[in-house]
Amino acid sequence: MLGISLEGQVGLVTGAGSAYGIGRSMVIALAQAGAAAVYACDLNLGSIDSLKDEVKSLGLSTLVEGRVLDVASEEQTVAVLQDILRKHGRFDFFLANAGYAVYRSLDTLSADQFMRAVEVMQKAPYLAVKYGSQAMAVTSPAKPQSKGSVVITSSCAAFAGAYADLVYTAVKKACNGIVESGSVQLASSNIRVNGVAPGCTKSSILTSSKLAEAGNEYRVEASREDVEATHAKFFERGGLFEKGQEHKYYNRTAEPAEIAYVAAFLASDLASAVNGQILLADSGKTAAATGEGFTGPVAAMPPLKF
Ligand SMILES: NC(=O)c1ccc[n+]([C@@H]2O[C@H](COP(=O)([O-])OP(=O)(O)OC[C@H]3O[C@@H](n4cnc5c(N)ncnc54)[C@H](O)[C@@H]3O)[C@@H](O)[C@H]2O)c1
Repeated sequence: MLGISLEGQVGLVTGAGSAYGIGRSMVIALAQAGAAAVYACDLNLGSIDSLKDEVKSLGLSTLVEGRVLDVASEEQTVAVLQDILRKHGRFDFFLANAGYAVYRSLDTLSADQFMRAVEVMQKAPYLAVKYGSQAMAVTSPAKPQSKGSVVITSSCAAFAGAYADLVYTAVKKACNGIVESGSVQLASSNIRVNGVAPGCTKSSILTSSKLAEAGNEYRVEASREDVEATHAKFFERGGLFEKGQEHKYYNRTAEPAEIAYVAAFLASDLASAVNGQILLADSGKTAAATGEGFTGPVAAMPPLKF
C-alpha cells in the first residue's frame, strides 16, 4: 500500500501544545509516518503528557519531546535546533504551525498587536526557513547529503479578505511569500518549502489565541467540549450551518487530523515534486466564495443507472 514515510527522520512542530489542535495532530501524523523523533514546541505545554500517551497508545515508538518555545524568538528557535542536533545528529522536517487569531476590527487593532502577529506568524516562518535549513544541511553517515522539508501553516485567510481580520490576513499572505521565495533560496540545499492553508478547522484557536498573543507560557483550563462549543459558535456566525446549506461539501468543518495529513504528505518524499506550493485544504470553501447564487442551487447528482 502506498503510504507516507518519514522513517527514521527527526524534526519539530510548532504550535503543538494545545489539547485539540492542528499541531498536535501533526505530531501524531508524523509519528504514524515512522518519524524517529518529533519535538512538540509551544508556549503552552499543558497537553504534552496526553500527546505522548496518545502516540504510545497507537503503538508508535516515535520519541515525542515537549519544548517551551516562543516562535517569535530567534534565540530560542536556534537553541531548540541545536539541542535536537546534539541529541540526534540530524534534522529533517520543520512544521512551522504556531499561530493565533484574535479578530479585531481595524479601528481597535493597535500597532503593537499588529507587530506581535507579524513576529509570531511572519517572522517565525522566516526563522524556520533560515535556521531550519541550516540544521537540515548538517550531514552524517546516516544522512550523507543536505536534505529536508519545511511546511508552513498558512490559512484560507491568505486567499480571501473575509475570513479574518486585517493583520491575520496580512501575515498569512506573507507566509505564502515565504514559501514561494524560500523554495528558490533553498533549491541548492536540496530542501523543499511548502505550505498548507487550512480552511475552517475544529481546534483550540478561539480559546487559546488571547493567551498566546501575550507570549507567556500558559495553561488552557477549558475542557475539549468547551473548546469545541466556542468554535461551533464561530462557524455558525460564518454561515456554515445555515439551514438547508449545511450538507454542502464546502460548508463542512475539518478535523485537525485532515490538515495534519496534508502537512505530513508535504514533509515526505511522496511530495518530492511539490515545492514552493501552498495547498489550500478548505473543502472547497474559497472556490465557492459566492455559494451557488450565480449558478443556481445545484442539486445532488443522480446515481448512474447500470
Ligand atoms: N483552526 C482553523 O480554522 C485554522 C484555519 C486556518 C489556519 N489555521 C492556522 O493553523 C495553525 C494552528 O492553529 P490551530 O487552529 O490548531 O489552533 P490551536 O490554538 O489549537 O493551536 C495553535 C497553537 O499555537 C501556539 N502558539 C501561538 N503563538 C505561539 C508562539 N508565539 N510560540 C509558540 N507557540 C505559539 C498556541 O499556544 C497554540 O497551542 C495556526 O497557524 C493557525 O493560524 C487555523
